Amino acid sequence: MERSDFLVIGSGLAGLIFALDVADAGTVTVLTKSDPFEGSTRYAQGGIASVMDARDSFDAHVRDTHEAGAGLCHQDTVELAVREGPDAIAHLTRLGVAFDREGSGTYSLGREGGHSARRILHAADATGAEIQRVLLENALAHPNIRILADHIAVDLITSLTTHGEKEVVGAYALDRQTDMITSFAARATMLATGGVGKVYLYTSNPDIATGDGIAIAYRAGARVANMEFIQFHPTCLYHPKAKSFLITEAMRGEGACLRLPTGERFMPHYHQLAELAPRDIVARAIDDQMKKTGCDYVLLDITHRSADFIQSRFPMIYEKVKEFGCDITKEPIPVVPAAHYCCGGVVSDLDGRTGLLRLYTAGETAFTGIHGANRLASNSLLEALVFALRAARHAKGLLESLPMPNEIPEWDYVNTVKSSEGVLLSHTWDEVRRVMWNLVGIVRSNKRLTLARRRIAYIREEVREYYWKYFVTSDFIELRNISLVAELIINSALPRRESRGLHYNIDYPERNDKEWLRDSILTPSPHR
Ligand code: FAD
Ligand code: SIN
Repeated sequence: MERSDFLVIGSGLAGLIFALDVADAGTVTVLTKSDPFEGSTRYAQGGIASVMDARDSFDAHVRDTHEAGAGLCHQDTVELAVREGPDAIAHLTRLGVAFDREGSGTYSLGREGGHSARRILHAADATGAEIQRVLLENALAHPNIRILADHIAVDLITSLTTHGEKEVVGAYALDRQTDMITSFAARATMLATGGVGKVYLYTSNPDIATGDGIAIAYRAGARVANMEFIQFHPTCLYHPKAKSFLITEAMRGEGACLRLPTGERFMPHYHQLAELAPRDIVARAIDDQMKKTGCDYVLLDITHRSADFIQSRFPMIYEKVKEFGCDITKEPIPVVPAAHYCCGGVVSDLDGRTGLLRLYTAGETAFTGIHGANRLASNSLLEALVFALRAARHAKGLLESLPMPNEIPEWDYVNTVKSSEGVLLSHTWDEVRRVMWNLVGIVRSNKRLTLARRRIAYIREEVREYYWKYFVTSDFIELRNISLVAELIINSALPRRESRGLHYNIDYPERNDKEWLRDSILTPSPHR
C-alpha cells in the first residue's frame, strides 16, 4: 500500500492544476495511465474563453454560455466560472503559460462559434500543448509531487464513516509495465481523467479518453448527470490516416466557410450566424448535407485569407494537414464531424465535491452544470481551470480534519489466469464504438436508442460474465469502462423525450420545456 495526503487521478489541466495548488499543504501522488503529457489538454487548439477586453463583458459571456446551453446551464456555475475566469487566467500566466499578444501587449483574442465577442486566449493553434507543457514542468519540479506514469486507476476504495456515510480512502491502480495492482491511500482524492470520446468510432479525442473517471465514480456510488449531451465537433480532418485530427473552430472565427464538394456554401440555410452558429447546429447541418447529397465529407475553406496570415495564425494545422497532401493556403480541407466532448459527468458542487466524502472531481470528468445541453466553444478549459482550483482550495482547507486512512484493502488477485483470447477484447471494443456511432450519434431515434440499449446490455453482461474471470489488464479496464459509459449515455438519452442542444431525437424534434427543463441524473443502485 502507498500513502500520500492527496491522490490525483489524471495529469491533464484539471489534475495538474489541482496537484500544484494542494502541494504546498501536503504530499501528492498523481496517477496517469499513459505518458503524463498525454490527454485532451495537450491537443486543445482554439484556446480558453475569458473576458479580457473592455469591449466585452461578464454578462455577455454568461449570456452566450446560456444561449449555447439551450436552457440547462446552471446560473450560479456559469456566473462563477465567467467572473473567476480572469483571475484563473492570471494564475496560469504566473505559472508561465504564454498566451499570444498583440504588438501593443494586449492579449490577441480569437472568436469561435456562439461567442458574441472576441474572448478566446490562445497560443497560436496549439494552446493546450502550451498549458500542458507549463503545468507538467512545474509539477515535475515540485518536491511534494510524485507522478506515476503508466498507472491506470481501476476502482476507488471506499469505506463507511461512523455516521454510515460512504467515503473514498484511495484507489487501486494497475501498473501497465508490470501488470501489478497497488492500493494508493490518501486523505483526499481528485478524479480528473478527462472525457469519453473513445466510446465512439470517430472522435477528436486521444486514446486515453475512455470515460474511466465517470465509470469509476459511478461504480463507487457517485451520481452522474446529463450523459446524453455528447458534443460532436463539426470539423475533423477527413483522411484515412489522420486519426482524430481536429481543425479548430477558430478557423471559422477567422472567416473560413463550409462548402459542399461542389463548392456551394450551405450554412447560411441553417442559421443566421452561418459557420459561427453553435456547434450542435453546425455538426447537424453537415450530417444532414452528407446524408442528402451522399458525400463522404464537406470542405472547410480559408483560402480567401493570405498565406502569411494562415501560416502564422494556424501554424500547427498548416504543417499537419500538409503532411496529408493538402496545402490549406491553396485548397479547402476535407472535414467530417466527430465525437468531441462530454457535457455530462460526475455530479459535483462549486468546490468540486462529489456526493462521496473525500472525493473531488474536475475537468471533463465532472458535471458542474456550466455547459447545459451544449458547451460553448473554449469553455471547457475555463471550467477545468476554475473548478479544479476551487476544489484544491477546498481540499486544503479540510486537510486537518481528514485523517490518513489506517489500513485499506490490497487488491484481491482472485483471477490469475491470463486470457488466451486477448483479441476478443479489441473486437468487443470495436463493437461498442460502432453501436454508439451508428445508433447514439448526432441524430437519434427511439428505435435506434432501444436497439443500442439491448446491444450494450449484452456486451456489459459479457464483460461481467466472461472477461472479468481473467487476469485484469488495461485493455480490459478500458472495455469495462467504455461499455458502462455507453450504457449511461443511452440511459440518459432514452427517457429524454424531446430534442435539446446536443440531444436530437427525430421522434421528438421539438424542445419541451414543460417536462424537460431539467438535468438527467443517474443514481447507481447499491448492488452494481
Ligand atoms: P485530460 O486533459 O484529457 O487529462 C486526463 C488525464 O487523465 C490524462 O492524463 C489521462 O492519461 C488520465 N487518465 C485517464 N484515465 C485514467 C485512469 N483510469 N487512470 C489514471 N489516469 C487516467 N477545450 C477548450 O476549452 N478549448 C479548446 O480549444 C479545446 N480544443 C480541443 C481540441 C481537441 C482535439 C480535444 C480532444 C479537446 C479540446 N477541448 C478544448 C476540450 C478540452 O481540451 C478538454 O475538455 C480538457 O483538456 C480536459 O482536461 P482534463 O484535465 O479534464 O482531461
Ligand atoms: C476548437 O479549437 O475548435 C476546439 C474548441 C473547443 O473544443 O472548445
